[in-house]
Amino acid sequence: MKILLLGNTGQLGWELNRTLLPLGEVQAVDYPEVNLAEADGLRAFVRACAPHVIVNATAYTAVDKAESERDLAFAINATGPGILAEEAKRLGAALLHYSTDYVFDGTKGAPYVETDLPHPLNVYGESKLAGEGAIQAVDGKTLIFRTAWVYSDRRDSFVTKVLGWARQNETLRIVDDQISNPTWARMLAEVTCQILARGSDYLSEHRGLYHLAGSGYASRLKWARKILELDPQREEQVCQEILPALTSDFPTAARRPLFSALNCDHFAATFGLRLPAWEAGLRMAIER
Ligand SMILES: NC(=O)c1ccc[n+]([C@@H]2O[C@H](COP(=O)([O-])OP(=O)(O)OC[C@H]3O[C@@H](n4cnc5c(N)ncnc54)[C@H](OP(=O)(O)O)[C@@H]3O)[C@@H](O)[C@H]2O)c1
Repeated sequence: MKILLLGNTGQLGWELNRTLLPLGEVQAVDYPEVNLAEADGLRAFVRACAPHVIVNATAYTAVDKAESERDLAFAINATGPGILAEEAKRLGAALLHYSTDYVFDGTKGAPYVETDLPHPLNVYGESKLAGEGAIQAVDGKTLIFRTAWVYSDRRDSFVTKVLGWARQNETLRIVDDQISNPTWARMLAEVTCQILARGSDYLSEHRGLYHLAGSGYASRLKWARKILELDPQREEQVCQEILPALTSDFPTAARRPLFSALNCDHFAATFGLRLPAWEAGLRMAIER
């Protein structure tokens, strides 16, 4: 199986690059070698590679910056994925793409299922939703996994930020009214790999949109407390207390959904797989 992995230096892409290797030949690239916002170059690149599977881990993920870079966010998160879907179909290849809990407005009050109506509150969410639509319009051999609150130790994720803040501040104030599913990038990559290993016909039979994130959900405050509890170098922390805060205490350019947790039962029922409880994932991510 020849796999084209796009975005291999991102949080998820970096984990995918390692996890996918046993499946066959993996061509892993990132910006600027390939630019999702440059249509002609993107098409030419995919055609030259001629993969059996495209895994798209690229995205414009700067949620606040997207408010002032709408066109770029849409080019990378919507137009580019649509082109990937067209090129995959042309090649008879499968496309695996990721989307986000930020397609929802967070007002449901319970974890979202795939049939819930999206209503993004910010440009990032709008652009990701448009990407889902662009891919679905092509009607190819495509799986879209909506995920949430992805973290890794590679980049500036919430986990690495909290560990850093706790080494510099005696008091932390963390929002208690944003709730979703913390998801370790490595586990997302591993489950992706297990699905891809089932082969082309299987992917074709199971095309569709699925929610896939760490099991259970937490507020950012609860997540932060768990991060500091599991920190293997706790003696380095100078933080004495973590106080609850409200999203409105920290004004940002982009509005964020408050309760955007995803219900992953459809994924579990379809594929027989479920990501572990978010606390278990966090423990493995931090303690290894
Ligand atoms: N992070 C989260 O909390 C979260 C939550 C829900 C869903 N998701 C989704 O999960 C997927 C993976 O997210 P992640 O956290 O791994 O993202 P990430 O760490 O920000 O990585 C995104 C990758 O895309 C690349 N990229 C950016 N612009 C590009 C362009 N014009 N052309 C080609 N590549 C470009 C980035 O390269 P540079 O580093 O060079 O810019 C980076 O390697 C995305 O679809 C994201 O929307 C993420």
